[in-house]
Amino acid sequence: MESRIYLIGYMGCGKSTIGKFVAEKIGYTFLDLDGFIEEKYHKKVAEIFNEFGQDRFREIERAALMEVSSFEKVIVATGGGAPCFFDNMEVMNKTGLTIYMFMTVDQLAARLENSRPGKRPLIEGKTGAELRQFVLDGLGARAPFYSQASRKVEGSDEEIADKVYEAIMN
Ligand code: S3P
Repeated sequence: MESRIYLIGYMGCGKSTIGKFVAEKIGYTFLDLDGFIEEKYHKKVAEIFNEFGQDRFREIERAALMEVSSFEKVIVATGGGAPCFFDNMEVMNKTGLTIYMFMTVDQLAARLENSRPGKRPLIEGKTGAELRQFVLDGLGARAPFYSQASRKVEGSDEEIADKVYEAIMN
């Protein structure tokens, strides 16, 4: 089994929830890349965006990814944008198994609609049709990166953890 498993996919697809669950099942450490950054900088991701801007966040995210890419026996939940900047996707593919957790635009928009305010700076204040359009555009732009993953899983909330587990085992 690969020593590093990277879960990738759009905001709200459940990378952290599923990552934690599956890590426990296979005896790996779970690591949330955003959480790792927040601990290191003693700031929330939203604060980093607001104070330094997205470009600086992407550099910080890149550095965090490079660091994590030498950890052993970890499942890493990456931020939704992480695969789409620099050659991050290549780094992940070279150092572990990448799994794309696919969800439809409608699934994602519904989940993000119910997510905690203040957590995701890119969708702050967006709801309804505006949020759905943002997800549609964003997913379209990111698909070429996500599709470079070694495995792609999709399914209902009930099925997805098993599918990620199977993708790791096969
Ligand atoms: C982002 C996704 C977020 C976080 C930041 C930017 C993105 O992570 O890294 O707000 O560009 O899609 P989640 O995918 O965990 O929400």
